[in-house]
Amino acid sequence: MEKYVINGGNKLYGSVDIQTAKNSVLPILAATVLTDEKIRILNVPEISDVNNMVKILIRLGCKAVFSGRDLIIDSSSADCFEIPSELAHELRSSVFLLGSVVSRFRMAKIAYPGGCDIGLRPVDLHLAGLKRLGVQITEKNGYILCKCDKLTGNEIMLDCPSVGATENIMLAAVRAEGCTTIKNAAREPEIEDLQRFLNAIGAKVSGAGSGTIKIEGVKKLGGCEYLPIHDRIEAGTFLVAGAMCGGEVEINCSCAENLSSLLHKLRENGCNIYIKNDKIVLGSNRRLTSVKSIETQPYPGFPTDLQAQITALCCICSGQSIITENLFETRFKYASELRKMGADITVINRSAFVRGIDRFKGATVVAHDLRGGAALVLAGLAAEGRSEILYISHIDRGYGAFEYKLRKLGADIVRVAV
Ligand code: EPZ
Repeated sequence: MEKYVINGGNKLYGSVDIQTAKNSVLPILAATVLTDEKIRILNVPEISDVNNMVKILIRLGCKAVFSGRDLIIDSSSADCFEIPSELAHELRSSVFLLGSVVSRFRMAKIAYPGGCDIGLRPVDLHLAGLKRLGVQITEKNGYILCKCDKLTGNEIMLDCPSVGATENIMLAAVRAEGCTTIKNAAREPEIEDLQRFLNAIGAKVSGAGSGTIKIEGVKKLGGCEYLPIHDRIEAGTFLVAGAMCGGEVEINCSCAENLSSLLHKLRENGCNIYIKNDKIVLGSNRRLTSVKSIETQPYPGFPTDLQAQITALCCICSGQSIITENLFETRFKYASELRKMGADITVINRSAFVRGIDRFKGATVVAHDLRGGAALVLAGLAAEGRSEILYISHIDRGYGAFEYKLRKLGADIVRVAV
């Protein structure tokens, strides 16, 4: 096990490069099972969710080789349609493989997925969508068993704009017979990225980013080289770090458009933000004013994956805020850890009620999940004194070279074996 040791109080100055998006790369990796041609995914982030997804692909019989940060996948020798629990439980995105594995083998057997413990995280919408395409599904002993004679295009209406369900259905539909329409589809930028990737290997997908996605089934898919979009959540995390610590940070990413809900809130807090070409520059004098309320929503609303980070910021703004988490049932586990650092935060049902304090006090705290863990790091950077963040393997799932990038901005943070 490893921990971060942080001496807080340094302002942050400088420029940081942003990784390619975890939540694009993971469904794209699932999509590589759909073709026998080689795929080269460029500049893949150095995170454990990617490494675990690669382990699953290798278990399916795919070849996966890193060349620097590029990842070359060859699924021509894939010969297994079963993902065991010890791999599936590692990450949520193992569930995306249902769609691509059943498309390739007409069979799939996958243990229930893992991922951050932030709520119930059902898969009913994934399964309902696959059934609409002709998949027979049984759930037994913690496994989801899928089989079909063939996949046939259909119209699918999602009860809620689930990112994963949208992606899973896209993957199952690209080689189905006939056309599929997904209504009330998720509109996240990562869905558009998946569409671009699928079309780059010969699929016929349109409408991603709107609420309706159309897929015209094709018989065969090819290969390609593909550079995924920047990780807007990593970029947002560094922007909030700059706001909390004070100073001036320059975020090298072309994702300002995808972060407009966060940028709007940070400007309300009193941050100076300007965008030039592929950079977002944020200046902060550290004592910021609270925003009255923040509600997480499906894209383009405020992203749930930045909820913990903006709440940590609200804790050290003057005034009061109410942050409401509308997507996941238990995504405030980090609040009790922030209280150990002096935060005045009370969670009632899906809302956190925050009264701003002057500064966090350093403390030893525990990361319970990926984004909550990142929020604790930001609190430690802004705190007075020394903090230790335990169980940072949660953070390693989604942030590559996190402490290195923060040190480059002037933070005093080191990774220590426990
Ligand atoms: C994806 O998770 C992301 N993960 C999450 O990022 C992100 O928080 C989430 O989308 C929302 O944006 C990946 O892309 C790998 P959902 P996913 O299905 O697909 C309900 C991170 O920190 N729902 O959009 O699991 C569900 O309960 C991670 O990077 C059903 O009811 O999210 C939730 O309330 C955390 N039935 C809502 O939809 C289903 O079958 C949104 O979930 C599926 C979902």
